[in-house]
Order: sequence, then C-alpha cells, then structure tokens
Amino acid sequence: MQTLLLFFDICIAFSLVFVEGVQSVQYEELSTLLLIKSSLIDPSNQLEGWKMPVNAAGNQSLHCNWTGVWCNSEGFVDRLHLSNMNLSGNVSYHIQELRSLSFLNISCNMFDSSLPKSLGSLTSLKTIDVSQNNFIGSFPTGLGMASGLTSVNASSNNFSGYLPEDLGNATSLESLDFRGSFFVGSIPSSFKHLHKLKFLGLSGNNLTGRIPREIGQLASLETIILGYNEFEGEIPAEIGNLTNLQYLDLAVGSLSGQIPAELGKLKQLETVYLYKNNFTGKIPPELGNATSLVFLDLSDNQISGEIPLEVAELKNLQLLNLMRNQLKGTIPTKLGELTKLEMLELWKNFLTGPLPENLGQNSPLQWLDVSSNSLSGEIPPGLCHSGNLTKLILFNNSFSGPTPSSLSTCKSLVRVRVQNNLISGTIPVGLGSLPILQRLELANNNLTGQIPDDIALSTSLSFIDVSGNHLESSLPYSILSIPDLQIFMASNNNFEGQIPDQFQDCPSLSLLDLSSNRLSGKIPESIASCEKLVNLKPAK
Ligand SMILES: *[C@@H]1O[C@H](CO)[C@@H](O)[C@H](O)[C@H]1NC(C)=O
Ligand SMILES: *[C@@H]1O[C@H](CO)[C@@H](O)[C@H](O)[C@H]1NC(C)=O
Ligand SMILES: *[C@@H]1O[C@H](CO)[C@@H](O)[C@H](O)[C@H]1NC(C)=O
Ligand SMILES: *[C@@H]1O[C@H](CO)[C@@H](O)[C@H](O)[C@H]1NC(C)=O
Ligand SMILES: *[C@@H]1O[C@H](CO)[C@@H](O)[C@H](O)[C@H]1NC(C)=O
Ligand SMILES: *[C@@H]1O[C@H](CO)[C@@H](O)[C@H](O)[C@H]1NC(C)=O
Ligand SMILES: *[C@@H]1O[C@H](CO)[C@@H](O)[C@H](O)[C@H]1NC(C)=O
Ligand SMILES: *[C@@H]1O[C@H](CO)[C@@H](O)[C@H](O)[C@H]1NC(C)=O
Ligand SMILES: *[C@@H]1O[C@H](CO)[C@@H](O)[C@H](O)[C@H]1NC(C)=O
Ligand SMILES: *[C@@H]1O[C@H](CO)[C@@H](O)[C@H](O)[C@H]1NC(C)=O
Ligand SMILES: *[C@@H]1O[C@H](CO)[C@@H](O)[C@H](O)[C@H]1NC(C)=O
Ligand SMILES: *[C@@H]1O[C@H](CO)[C@@H](O)[C@H](O)[C@H]1NC(C)=O
Repeated sequence: MQTLLLFFDICIAFSLVFVEGVQSVQYEELSTLLLIKSSLIDPSNQLEGWKMPVNAAGNQSLHCNWTGVWCNSEGFVDRLHLSNMNLSGNVSYHIQELRSLSFLNISCNMFDSSLPKSLGSLTSLKTIDVSQNNFIGSFPTGLGMASGLTSVNASSNNFSGYLPEDLGNATSLESLDFRGSFFVGSIPSSFKHLHKLKFLGLSGNNLTGRIPREIGQLASLETIILGYNEFEGEIPAEIGNLTNLQYLDLAVGSLSGQIPAELGKLKQLETVYLYKNNFTGKIPPELGNATSLVFLDLSDNQISGEIPLEVAELKNLQLLNLMRNQLKGTIPTKLGELTKLEMLELWKNFLTGPLPENLGQNSPLQWLDVSSNSLSGEIPPGLCHSGNLTKLILFNNSFSGPTPSSLSTCKSLVRVRVQNNLISGTIPVGLGSLPILQRLELANNNLTGQIPDDIALSTSLSFIDVSGNHLESSLPYSILSIPDLQIFMASNNNFEGQIPDQFQDCPSLSLLDLSSNRLSGKIPESIASCEKLVNLKPAK
C-alpha cells in the first residue's frame, strides 16, 4: 500500500516535470529522494512528509524542509540524517545522484541489506555513519576519492570481505570505525597515508596478520582499538612514535612477544588493554614513564618476572590488572602510595611476600583480588579506609594474623573471600550489620571463638562458609533465618549444642552443611519448611 502510494507520488512528480517542462537540478534531487524512499521500509512512518506537495510547481526545493534533509545555499541536498528511524529495506543506488551530499547518517536503523556500490561515488562526502545496523556484504570502494572525507563509521554491522584499501587515499580522514563486523584479511598498508587519523577502530572482526610497523607513521593517532581479532606477532616498537596516543586496546587476540618498552615514551597514554593475548617476557620498567596511565590491563598472558617498582610511579593509575600471568616476586610496597588506585587484580600468579601495608590507606580502593598466589603476612588494616571496598578476595594464599576489625565497619563490602589461608583470631563483631555483604567465605583458616551473634541479624548475606576452622560454642540461634541465606557451611569445627530450631522462615536455604562438629540433638522437624533445601549434611 505504502509503496503504491509512493509510486503514485513519483508519477505525479514525473508528470509535473513533463507537463510544465521545469526540470531543475533541485527538482531532480527531490525525485531522487522519493526514489530513495521507495526502496525503504519505514514502519513508523518517519518519512511521511517525503512526498510531492500538491502545489510544488512554485518551489522546487521543498524537499529541503523534509525530515532528515538539509540543503546547501544553492538548494542541493547537503545532509541526510535518517538515524534512529527503524528503517530497513535497501539504500537505493540512486543515492549517488545526490552529488553534493557531504553528510550521511543512517545509523541505528534495521538495515540488513548491502550498501549500494554507487555509494562509493559520493565523493563530496565528509561524514558517513552507517553504524549500528545489520548491513551485510562488502563496504563499497570509491570513497578513497572523497578528498574531504573526515569520518567513516561502519561499526556494529555484519559487513564481510576486506577492509576498503582505497580509503588510504582519503588523507583527510580523522576517524575510521569498522568495529564489530566480520571483516577478514589484514590492515591495508595504504592506511599508512592517513596522517590525520586520530581514531582507528577495527576491533571485533576476523582480521589477521601483523600490526604493520607503518602504524607508527600515523602521527595523529589518539585512539587505537584493534582487539578481538586474530592479529599475531609482536606489537611494533614504532607504536612508541605515536606521541598523541591516549588509548591502546589490543585485547583478546594472538599477539605475542614482549610488551614494547617504547610504550613508556607515550606521555598522553591513559589506557592500555593488552589482556588475553600471548605476550611473554617481562613488564618493561619503562612503562613507569607513561605517567598519564589510568588503566593498565595486561591480564591473561604469559608475562613473567617481577612487577617492576616503576609501576608505582604511575600516579594516575586507577586499574592495575595483571591477573593470570606468571609473575613472581613481591608486590611493590609503593603501590600502597598510589592515591587513585581503585582496582588491583593480581590473582593467579606466583607472587610472594605481603600486601603493601598502606594498601587502601591512600586511595578509594574498590576491588582487591590477589587470590591464588603465595602471599603471606597480615591483612593490611586500611584496605577500606576510604569506604569504597566492595570485593576483598584473598583466598588460596598464606595470609596469617587476625582479620582487621576495620573490615567490620566497611559498609561497602559485598564479597569477603579469604578462605584457604592461615588467618587466626576471632571473626570480628559487626560483619552482620554490613548492609550489602553477600558472601562471607572464611573456610580453612585458623579462626577460633564463636560466630558473633550479629551475623544472624544480617539482612544481606546469601553465602556463609566458615568450615574448616576451630570455631566453637553454639551456632547463633536464628542464623538459618537470614532472609537471603542460600548456603551455610560450617563443617569441621567444634560447634556444640543444638542445631538451631529456627527453620520457620528459611525461604532461600538450599545447602546446609554442619558435618564434623559436636552438635547434638535431633534435626528439628521444622526443617521441612525450608522449601529449597536440596543438600543437607547434618551433624554426625
Ligand atoms: C531490496 O532489494 C532486494 C534485492 O534487490 C529486493 O528483493 C527487495 O524487494 C528490496 N526491498 C525493498 C523494500 O525495496
Ligand atoms: C523553497 O522552499 C525552501 C525550503 O522550504 C526554502 O528554503 C526556499 O526559500 C523556498 N524558495 C522559494 C522560491 O519559495
Ligand atoms: C517546513 O515544514 C514545517 C513543518 O514541517 C512547516 O511549518 C514550514 O512552514 C515549512 N517551511 C517551508 C518554507 O515550507
Ligand atoms: C521502532 O519500532 C519499535 C517497534 O518495532 C517501536 O517501539 C519504536 O517506537 C520505533 N521507534 C521509532 C523511532 O519509531
Ligand atoms: C548519527 O546519528 C546517531 C544517532 O542519532 C548519533 O549518535 C551519531 O553521533 C551520528 N553520527 C554522526 C557522525 O554525526
Ligand atoms: C590511490 O590513488 C592513486 C592515484 O589516484 C591511485 O593510483 C591508487 O590506485 C589509489 N589507491 C587505491 C588503493 O585505490
Ligand atoms: C570470525 O570470528 C567469529 C568470532 O570471533 C567466529 O565465530 C567466526 O568463526 C570467524 N569467522 C571466520 C570466517 O573466521
Ligand atoms: C619510530 O620508531 C622506531 C623504533 O622505535 C625508530 O627506529 C624510528 O626512528 C622512529 N621513527 C620516527 C620517524 O621517529
Ligand atoms: C602462546 O605461546 C606459547 C609459547 O610461548 C605457545 O605454546 C602457545 O601455543 C601460544 N598460544 C597461542 C594461542 O598462540
Ligand atoms: C624511562 O624509564 C627508564 C627505566 O625506568 C629510565 O631509565 C629512563 O630514564 C626513563 N626515561 C624517561 C625519558 O623518563
Ligand atoms: C568512594 O566512596 C565515597 C563515599 O562513599 C564516594 O563519595 C566516592 O565517590 C567513592 N569513590 C569512588 C572512586 O568510587
Ligand atoms: C593456629 O592458631 C593457634 C593459636 O590460636 C596457633 O597455636 C597455631 O600455630 C596456628 N596454626 C597455624 C597453622 O597457623
């Protein structure tokens, strides 16, 4: 129906031309827009106003007032902005007839067709944004001839084939975004001509080959996002020539070799994501010279050696993630002096020695995960000094000494996982009043004393594991009535007395393990009210 009407519109358009003999170029553009509309599917009727007006004869530039259409001073279509309109169907090859088009934005629609080859002949384009659709097929060639082209955004689509090599001739380009499609092949060497390029986004494709050395010639680059591809080989040392570089994301790939020391030359560099690759060798101490670094993530590689002391020179560091490598030696004490550190993830390495004693004392520390190393010493008392600590994950180490009582006033805590250490002393009073604490894992330590009564008053805990300690006395009377409690494990302790008879209200409890204690008496009949209880290991 819609198409029929459109067809009617077009007929009127042509008959008007015929009848009155007025054939201006502007008028042709109006007709072109109607042709473009005729191949679009527009379920929300966004382009309703795109039609031949009844008394068009007097003004041949009426289309300049249509939704999403802008003309230049001569009345030629200059900008088409049709983003976010639920459009699908085809982008008509007639689009090439809009000779003056400098801005085309059809992003955030539902196109799942391919772009017309003729798009490549729109050499007056300065900006093209076709991102966030489902376009298929190859990206048209030809725009390399668009000498004024500054920005291409084709991200989040289903394009395939090679990256358009000819774009290397569009030397005005400042931003090139081909992230999130299925492009194959390598980075075209012609791209080395793009001296004005600030943004290069190619992540999330199927690109292969090496990162070309010539990338070091793109002196304007501020952002490089090449991750989630299948690039291999080393990071070229020439990357250290990109003095404007702020953001380097090469995460998730098959890159190998050493992390180039030249990165330390980059004074603007704020973000380095190299996680999930196959990097080996040591963390270059020179990295400590890149003093703008805020986010440094080298996790999931095969990096060895020690954490260089110079890392503590990175005064702006908020995130340091070195987890799942082969690092040994101690954690630099001076990391505790960093004033902005929020996340420190060092888990699954071979680190030894203590945590920096000032850790958390000087910064808004939120996440600390150093699990599965060979760390020892006491848990630093200031971890939650700023009141921001949510994750405290220390399990599978040899930490000893008492749990700092400061943790029991740390209202931000969500997870405390310190199992499999040598922590001694009692469970500090107050953990039960922490408003959002969900997991409390203290198993297999050297804890003594009793479970403080306040734990039973918690309104947030869902997982409690205190098994494998030397805890004694009776269990708090109402501990199994914590509203969200799903798992309670307390085996292998010295608990005695009765099993708490407070099962009237245990809506969530699914696992209860009280085995290997000195509890006595019967399993209370009220346990039948725990509807979700699937695994019960009573005292024996
Ligand atoms: C888009 O083009 C395809 C193939 O040429 C055709 O089958 C389809 O009908 C077209 N869709 C519209 C809305 O014109
Ligand atoms: C024709 O319409 C356009 C857009 O609505 C307007 O800018 C232009 O001034 C009009 N020209 C005449 C001659 O009315
Ligand atoms: C442009 O369109 C608006 C409504 O969409 C209308 O109010 C206005 O008069 C039109 N201007 C011209 C010059 O046609
Ligand atoms: C797009 O379509 C969806 C339903 O298909 C509708 O909810 C939404 O409002 C539409 N958006 C626009 C901008 O028309
Ligand atoms: C295109 O439109 C989208 C959605 O309105 C917007 O977010 C984006 O910035 C636009 N692209 C350009 C290059 O202006
Ligand atoms: C770039 O332009 C030159 C000169 O016009 C031409 O010879 C060459 O083929 C173009 N490169 C690509 C990759 O299209
Ligand atoms: C492209 O990459 C995706 C996801 O990484 C993968 O599932 C797909 O098999 C790859 N396709 C080709 C042709 O390599
Ligand atoms: C770029 O870096 C390489 C290796 O780091 C160096 O040999 C070369 O001289 C540098 N080139 C320029 C132009 O600075
Ligand atoms: C990573 O490197 C190691 C040797 O350093 C090699 O055995 C392994 O196959 C590599 N893995 C990948 C995914 O390249
Ligand atoms: C960079 O770091 C190295 C090693 O840490 C150091 O010797 C050198 O002086 C630093 N260079 C600059 C320019 O800061
Ligand atoms: C740390 O906590 C304080 C107080 O809750 C809050 O104002 C601040 O924004 C937090 N800082 C960070 C980096 O989250
Ligand atoms: C456990 O703590 C007791 C004192 O409470 C101490 O005698 C014992 O050596 C500790 N065991 C370990 C393995 O640290």
